[in-house]
Amino acid sequence: MRIVRTVAELRAALEPHRGGGIGFVPTMGALHEGHLSLLRAAAAENETVVLSIFVNPTQFGEAADLDAYPRTEEADVELAALAGTHIVFAPSAAEMYPAGFATTVSVHGALTSTLEGAVRGRSHFDGVATVVATLLLAVGPDRAYFGAKDAQQVVVVRRMVTDLRIPVEIVARPTSRDADGLARSSRNARLSAEERRLAAVIPRSLRAAQDAFASGIRNTHRLTSLVHEGLTEAGLDHEYVRIVDADSLEPLTDIARPALLALAVRVGQVRLIDNVVLDPGVDDRIALEGSLR
Ligand code: PAF
Repeated sequence: MRIVRTVAELRAALEPHRGGGIGFVPTMGALHEGHLSLLRAAAAENETVVLSIFVNPTQFGEAADLDAYPRTEEADVELAALAGTHIVFAPSAAEMYPAGFATTVSVHGALTSTLEGAVRGRSHFDGVATVVATLLLAVGPDRAYFGAKDAQQVVVVRRMVTDLRIPVEIVARPTSRDADGLARSSRNARLSAEERRLAAVIPRSLRAAQDAFASGIRNTHRLTSLVHEGLTEAGLDHEYVRIVDADSLEPLTDIARPALLALAVRVGQVRLIDNVVLDPGVDDRIALEGSLR
């Protein structure tokens, strides 16, 4: 496995592998089982696997959040090798945003103004879209892999790739979860033992809404109220709990099409997001098994 730090080195390293299938997993490092499952999927479907590790400053609102983001490159590189990675691209901020960099890729409309965009500001998704576009153009992969935990990010990246005609298949993989259902996230490492125990309320509350949905409740206010109740009883502050159309991310009052139940919760100083899809067209038992059970 090779580690490269510049776009020029990356392109030269990838040149002999073009045509054989290149799978790309963009990350901000602090790799956990969720990232490793993306790398394994990329390795199963492509001849060459590229991992990027770059804590992208332009997608963070609060400087404190950026500073607190875990950086564990040495351990990441070891894990990446075991998961079938061939090339790690770990650029500096100056390599990604050289002097004079003046371009922003901005996806407009409900896709970026709701959920995370409403709390973190649209600049968050400007940061994500700009860095992902830059990375996709640097790597030139056949397939790029993203986790469904960041469902809005997947929708935004798909829109951007379609609009800019970037020739890549965006593959979204199911959210990787701990045994108690908590979505795996690099941020989980910052939870104290007590906070980690409390965080299990998040998947439990989502599951309560899934169960209600499976029993036939389609009103989004009733479903989100169940989640609110679970979180409030545990004393957790939520930033939002919302149900939106899974494709357009427009708000819904009743669910007649696939919907996304998404939330952001603060557990101590740590901000966690999670979501489940509520799909009236899918057998409820299958939907439950495929997500939180
Ligand atoms: O999901 C992430 O880790 C980041 O948003 C990404 C896609 C690597 C862009 O910085």
